[in-house]
Amino acid sequence: MNRSRFKDDIVYQIYPRSFQDSNGDGIGDLKGIISRLPYLEKLGVTALWLSPCFKSPMEDMGYDIADYYSIDPVFGTNEDMDELIKKAKKHGLRIILDMVLNHTSKEHEWFKSARSSKESPYREFYIWSETPNDIQSTFGGSAWEWNEQTKDYYFHLYAPGQPDLNWESRKMRNALYDACNYWLEKGVYGFRLDVIENIGKEVENHILQNGPHLHERLHELNQKTFGRKESITIGECWCADNNTRMLYTDPKREELSMVFLFNDWGAFHDPYYGKWKCRPFEPKIYRDIIYARQFTDKEKSWDTLFWNNHDIPRALNRYTDLAYRKQAAKMLFASTMFLRGTPFIYQGDEIGMVNGHFQSINDYQDIEAINHYQILQEKGMSEEEAKEALEKTARDNARIPMRWTARKGYGFTKGKPWLDVGKDEKGYCVSEEEKDPSSVLSFYRKAIKIWKNKAYRKIIRDGDFQPDYLEKEEWIAYTRMYKEKRLRVIANFSAHTYPLPEIPGKILLHNYDDQTNELRPYEVFVFFVE
Ligand code: GLC
Ligand code: CA
Repeated sequence: MNRSRFKDDIVYQIYPRSFQDSNGDGIGDLKGIISRLPYLEKLGVTALWLSPCFKSPMEDMGYDIADYYSIDPVFGTNEDMDELIKKAKKHGLRIILDMVLNHTSKEHEWFKSARSSKESPYREFYIWSETPNDIQSTFGGSAWEWNEQTKDYYFHLYAPGQPDLNWESRKMRNALYDACNYWLEKGVYGFRLDVIENIGKEVENHILQNGPHLHERLHELNQKTFGRKESITIGECWCADNNTRMLYTDPKREELSMVFLFNDWGAFHDPYYGKWKCRPFEPKIYRDIIYARQFTDKEKSWDTLFWNNHDIPRALNRYTDLAYRKQAAKMLFASTMFLRGTPFIYQGDEIGMVNGHFQSINDYQDIEAINHYQILQEKGMSEEEAKEALEKTARDNARIPMRWTARKGYGFTKGKPWLDVGKDEKGYCVSEEEKDPSSVLSFYRKAIKIWKNKAYRKIIRDGDFQPDYLEKEEWIAYTRMYKEKRLRVIANFSAHTYPLPEIPGKILLHNYDDQTNELRPYEVFVFFVE
C-alpha cells in the first residue's frame, strides 16, 4: 500500500449544486457531473472533491446531512453516484466525498428520535443541557436551541438545523464509521472532513476547536475507516497553526493526509467585523504565511495549496486588480501550485471566474449571508455598509453556476439557475476559452501537464524550498530544488512594473503572450534550471 500516493494528486472541487444541471430544474446534479468527466480529464486533474450531495433539507446547502447513506433526490440517486465513481475512474479521476461528521441535520432520524424523548437510544448522539452557556453559533445567535419535547436545549455550533454530534458516545462514533465505510466500499478515494477540528469539543468548558480528545478521535476514525486503504483525507481546520497542523498530518500518528488552513485569509480580517470587513491585501503578509508552512518539518507536514472554495469569495476579487483579470487568474495558480503540497482548483478557477453580481439583498441564498445582513447592522454598520460587506464577502459569490457558455443559463442549465447573479459578459466561459490558446483554461491545462510531468515531479513533490527576492515585497518568488535540478517561480502580485531579473534556464510557463525585459502587472514565470 502506497501511503503517500496522494502526493501526486491534483484535486478539483465541485460544488454539485452549481456545476452542471442535467434535467432543467436549475440545480446541478450527479448526471451533470458525469457528462463533464471528459472536460475534467482533459483539464488534467486526478481527483474530484464533491461538496456534500447526501440527503438534506439544504438549510446549509447540504452541510446539514439527513442521511449519510442516500444521495439527495435533487442531485440524483445512489445509482448515479455508483455510476459516477465507476465512470470517473475510467477517466483517471477518483472521487472524494465531503463528510460532515461534526453535526447532522435536525431532519436526521437520529436527531428526530433523540429530541422526542429522553429515553431515546439516540439521545447520547447529541449534546444537551438544561442550563445553556453563552457560546454563540457561527451563523449568529446562541448555539443552544430549546427542545420543547424534552424541555432542554441542544447544542448547534452552526445553524439550529445542524445539531452537533456527541463524539463522547462510542455508539455514535461507530455509526459514523459505518457510514464512512459504506462509501469506501463503494470505491470512493477518501474524504474532505468538514470542520473536523470541532469533534473534540467540550462545550461545558467552552472548548470548541482543538479539544483534548481531538487527535485521539481522529486516530480512531483513521483506524476504523480510511486508514486501512490507500486514501486521501483533508481536514478543514480554521484554528490550526503550523505546529498543531503536524498533529493531524504526521504520518506516524495515522490521522489525516493534510488539512486546510485559513490563517492566510484571516490575516486580512478586521479585529471587530472579522471576514466581513477585510483590510487591503498585502502580498508580503500573505507570502510570509505560506512560506512559513513550507518550512515546517517535512516529515510531518504536507500543505494544501488553494485560493478558493465554496466558503470564500473569489481570490481574483479579493486580491487582484480585475483590470488584469486574465493575467492575474493565471498568476494566482502558477504562483502557488509549485509549492510543496496538493494543489486544489475550485470549479471556475480554471476559467477566471469572479464574484457574483448581487444587486439586492434578496439575491442571497446562504443562511450565513442572510443572518449577517442583520447582525452586521446590529454591530454598527449602516444598511449600505452591510450590503457592501455582503457583496464582497458572502459565500454565495463562490457558489454561482459554472460558466460553460456565454448564453443564458451559461450552458449550466436549460432552466433558471438556482442562483442567477453572474454578469452577462463575454469570454471567461469554457466554450470560448477552449478555442483560445492564450485563455486561462489553456494556461491551466498546460500548467497541470508540467506539474504532472515526470521530469519535474520529484522537484515539486520532494524538493527543498527557498524563497527568493525577499526585498521585493510585492513578489512571490521562490526556488524548489532536488539534487541539481531547480524550478524557479517569479510572480508579480501587483499592478506595478519591475525590471525582470536575468534567470538562466528554460521558461516552462508564462502568462503573457509576449516577453519583455520587465516583470509586468501580475506577470508570472516558471523556469527550469538544470
Ligand atoms: C464548513 C463548510 C461550510 C459549512 C460549515 C458547517 O465550513 O465548508 O460550507 O457551512 O462547515 O457545516
Ligand atoms: Ca438538476
